[in-house]
Amino acid sequence: MKTPPHNAQPAAVPAPAGEPCPLCPTPAAGASAGAALPPGSRILLTAAQIQTRIRQIAGQISTDYKGLDLLTVAVLEGARPFHRDLVQRLTVPAASDAVQTSSYGHAHASSGVVTLSRDLTSNITGRHVLLVDDIVDSGHTAAFLIDALARRRPASLKLCALLDKPCRRVTPVAPHYTCFTINDVFVFGYGLDYKGQLRDLPYVAAIPPSPPGEE
Ligand code: IMP
Ligand code: MG
Repeated sequence: MKTPPHNAQPAAVPAPAGEPCPLCPTPAAGASAGAALPPGSRILLTAAQIQTRIRQIAGQISTDYKGLDLLTVAVLEGARPFHRDLVQRLTVPAASDAVQTSSYGHAHASSGVVTLSRDLTSNITGRHVLLVDDIVDSGHTAAFLIDALARRRPASLKLCALLDKPCRRVTPVAPHYTCFTINDVFVFGYGLDYKGQLRDLPYVAAIPPSPPGEE
């Protein structure tokens, strides 16, 4: 059976020449007139950088899944805009579905106890499934979903992440496709929330680390 290549991981790219480096943040204030951003927030990835990278990844996925029965699965809520923009740029047919997880822990760290709060509506047995998530942090959520979906015997199961924070990994999991690798900062925007808000920003911003004892 034809499966997408396992070494499909393109390197996470630095910012194109002439654009600010995504790992050298710039203040967010000027980019979002009127939005109530947390004090000290900085833009990590501009909307243009995000969209450029999604076009590249969508091209790679379109090549890898050509001729295959592809089902993309958005991990809600955070991956909603990323999944939408990624699917729009695929040049191969793809069906879409979604799952949602709940995890317990405090605002900035998952406890590792993950449950499925919304299941797929599709049967995935024998299909090529691509999980699309916003960020891989501890890895608990991705590992849980990969384990849960693998039991349904898809033809292949891969993970595509907008952001990867490998320095935070607790459960070993590596996305097959990563748009951007970032350092240990808490980010929001483009689907990711800060205290339940700011998901609708077209860019990704970071809040400064809390002083010790205030996390
Ligand atoms: P995990 O720790 O890899 O299981 O990540 C679980 C989920 O926590 C992610 O899918 C996000 O929804 C959320 N998350 C992790 N890091 C961040 C962050 O920096 N900002 C916003 N949400 C985050
Ligand atoms: Mg998520």
